[in-house]
Amino acid sequence: MRALISSEPGGPETLRLVDVPVPVAGPGQILLEVKACGVNYPDLLTIQDRYQVKTPRPFAPGAEVAGTVAAVGPGVTEFRVGERIAARIGTGGMAEFVAADAGRCSRIPEGMSFADAAVMQFTFETAYYALQTRARLQAGDTVLVLGAAGGVGIAAVQVARNLGARVVAAASSEAKIAFARRYGAGEGVLYPAVIPEDRREVTTLLKGSVGPRGADVVVDPVGGWLTEAAIRCLAEGGRYLVLGFTAGIPSLPLNLPLLKNCDVLGINWRTFTLQQDPQNEANRRELQRWYREGMLSPGISAEFPLHEGGKAIQLLADRSAVGKIVVTI
Ligand SMILES: NC(=O)c1ccc[n+]([C@@H]2O[C@H](COP(=O)([O-])OP(=O)(O)OC[C@H]3O[C@@H](n4cnc5c(N)ncnc54)[C@H](OP(=O)(O)O)[C@@H]3O)[C@@H](O)[C@H]2O)c1
Repeated sequence: MRALISSEPGGPETLRLVDVPVPVAGPGQILLEVKACGVNYPDLLTIQDRYQVKTPRPFAPGAEVAGTVAAVGPGVTEFRVGERIAARIGTGGMAEFVAADAGRCSRIPEGMSFADAAVMQFTFETAYYALQTRARLQAGDTVLVLGAAGGVGIAAVQVARNLGARVVAAASSEAKIAFARRYGAGEGVLYPAVIPEDRREVTTLLKGSVGPRGADVVVDPVGGWLTEAAIRCLAEGGRYLVLGFTAGIPSLPLNLPLLKNCDVLGINWRTFTLQQDPQNEANRRELQRWYREGMLSPGISAEFPLHEGGKAIQLLADRSAVGKIVVTI
């Protein structure tokens, strides 16, 4: 089979499309013929050896896939050959076949394309877990979403809107803000793409966007210098969601949570799904209901063939991706 292989640490340019043996479905696994693979920022971190989970080389990047069952391994009774399945796999998705643990697979609802099914896992389930479970979002809350046009961002915008929140989309360009508004953000705020000389101006901008009471919840998949500015615009008793660090891992003056009586909440969707998969399954059903009822769109902005999977990851590395990017096979 063909697979886009990382055989040395580096950027997307190090990936090579090569012929490798088709994997075998081991006990408790299914062999999936991959039709679509969602692209996520951790794909970049993984091939660069910068992700928290290290994968032995050679491997193909790609954490979320959809396709049809080609074979079932020993002990698998819940899936049959030919069924349409979405799977959360960590790595291996940018390939024609992948072996996936059956416990990390789910049937694709009728009417949902392979591309939509693939990309509705990682960032959408993360956003739902973050906002609904961790932040205990209430209807009427004000939510500020940083990096609002990114994969996590566009999912958080829609989940927060569907849970009844007022959503303010923050991003580094007007085009990204317009994208987030198309997906349900009520308002937008532009922040500088690079560290400004006077960071207090950014705090003022963000505070102005959420209003005098402050934001009840901040969704932060960006980090870096933006984090401190954003936490300063939380309301009393607000919740700060630590999701990711595309702009670097920030340090936080701990007087800020004290002054605001606020919660700084770490979000780790991967370990949540490993420990509480039935809860994640219930969350997925709610996301699928929204999709069915036209209340949620995967927000796919570009599709690439397998041999251009590196270009797909490069879009995220260049900060030029909007919404979700998908590789189709
Ligand atoms: N905690 C979890 O369980 C979990 C789950 C999924 C993903 N994540 C993390 O969430 C983060 C976002 O992932 P994603 O797949 O949504 O990525 P993405 O689609 O590339 O979006 C990331 C956003 O970060 C902003 N950004 C700021 N500086 C950047 C830079 N130097 N390079 C690239 N982007 C930059 C960009 O928005 P602006 O240009 O508007 O600033 C971009 O839209 C990653 O750190 C990922 O590891 C965490």
